[in-house]
Parts: sequence; C-alpha cells; structure tokens
Amino acid sequence: MNTRLPQKCLFPMAGFGTRFLPATKTVPKEMLPIVNKPLAHYGVEEAMEAGLVDIGIVTSRGKEAITDYFDIASAELTQQLDNTARSELLSGLQQILTCCSFSFIRQYVRRGLGDAVLTGRPLIGDQPFGVILADDLCIAPPGQDNAMQQMVAVFKQFDAKYSVIAVEELPTDELSRFGVIDALPIAGFPNLLQVSNLVEKPAPGTAPSNYGIIGRYLLTPDIFEILERTELGHSGEIQLTDALCEQARQGRLIAWCLQGRRFDCGGVAGFVAAVNHFHGQGL
Ligand code: G1P
Repeated sequence: MNTRLPQKCLFPMAGFGTRFLPATKTVPKEMLPIVNKPLAHYGVEEAMEAGLVDIGIVTSRGKEAITDYFDIASAELTQQLDNTARSELLSGLQQILTCCSFSFIRQYVRRGLGDAVLTGRPLIGDQPFGVILADDLCIAPPGQDNAMQQMVAVFKQFDAKYSVIAVEELPTDELSRFGVIDALPIAGFPNLLQVSNLVEKPAPGTAPSNYGIIGRYLLTPDIFEILERTELGHSGEIQLTDALCEQARQGRLIAWCLQGRRFDCGGVAGFVAAVNHFHGQGL
C-alpha cells in the first residue's frame, strides 16, 4: 500500500499563557526558554526529526517574536559571532531553517484548541498532519524515537487510516486537567488502544480511564469537516477532543501510550523540572 506519510505539522500558539504572567505580557509563552532554547524550538525540532518539515504556526496578536525566531539571524549578530565559539549556539536553529518551511496564520479570537486547529486548515489542505502543543515538552527514551516519530510509526503501521493521539497514564487527581479517553487495548499491539470515547477535562471522579491526552496528535484531514460542525464544549470553547469523539465513534481513532518523559511546561512546576533536566545535561 502506498501510505501517504505526513509532512505537515501544526503548532497552535495563539494562547495567552496566563500562568506565566507578567512575563507572558510581552513574551509569548512558546518563547520562554528551557535553558537556552525556547519551547517552540523543541517542538519544531521534534517535528523535523519525524519528517514533518512543513511547519504551520497559528499565532495571534503580540506573538511576532515567534515569527522572528524562525528566521535567519541579523547581519549584525552574525558579524559579531563570526569565528567565535558562540556561533555554534545558532547551529541547531540553522539546521531547522534549512530543513523546514514555515507558514503562519492568525487566530483572531481565541476560541479553543479545536478552533485553533481549524484556523490552521489553509496551511494543511487535504492531507494527514501532526499537531504539537509546544508546552508539552517530550523527551525520547535514550537512543530511541521521539514522540512524533513514535506516532508516525503507528500511523504507518495502520496504513494511514486512523488518527493517532498520544496518551499517558496519569494519577487520578490530575485527570480533570486533561482530555481523557475511554479505550480498550488492541490485541497483539503493545501500548496501543482503540478509543471509543473521549471527555475533555472530566469533573473529578467521572473520568472514563486514567489515560490523559498529551499534546501530540497525528490526524486524518476529515477532522476539519468535523471541527466545522463541532459545538462549543468545555469552557465555552471548540474542543479538539470533542471532534475526535466522532472519529472514535467511527472506529478510526487509536491512542499511543507515549514512551519517554513529558514535562508539562504550561505550569511552573513542569517548566522548572524541564529547565533542571536540560541544565543537568550540561546545556
Ligand atoms: C489541551 C487539550 C487536552 C489535552 C491537553 C494536553 O488542553 O484540550 O485535551 O489533554 O491539551 O496538554 P489545554 O492544556 O490546552 O487546556
């Protein structure tokens, strides 16, 4: 079978990042650095390594720093760094700029993750695509595939017929901060679950399982049509989780138990843990 491999990856980056105010009053939360690289850099690097080299970013007013980041350095900076050891510090970003293309689109009104993904539709078209929420910083197990590489492998394994979402088994008292799936293991496929239903941020005690959705998705493009008719859900917003329910009902949604480590950098504790992890690695 000629499986069409995903090449595009969407990054919803229009949110306010209120938990990091006042810093995020002028600095987009995706530009907050984990040591010397902003969160957005880690996310794009992960997509690039997984072969998703057409990067689409959904931004909003006040997020121009993201657009400027994914561009070549100014002549003045390049000149100052020429022939110094510090020019090495830009090599990772340079590799991203060489391998990836970048498109940006604005979300005028913040109406939820589902709406952000739908806003990105003109950048994706009619093909499968990844979605990365950069504040979930995922680290591959030593010497193994990163999170999006793992998902691409699952997507291929099932002939590109299913959307794949990443999940992690979470403590019960954390579930109401996540989308949670109702699912059964797929016989013969370790770490894979067939999803039958999903609930966005279930009230305490009502979650259908302990598998919370992590910010990594590999979606078939019919999700856009579903999102168009998805009604306002949790918090009065259009939820991607609600749209995924329809794919689940059609038996076309599988969940992958992510291998590796995840830092929830949308909150202070996870952010600090990520900084300590990368600093400990000598970065
Ligand atoms: C979003 C999704 C949620 C998912 C989470 C992962 O929520 O709506 O289903 O579990 O990302 O980080 P948010 O964190 O944007 O509120």
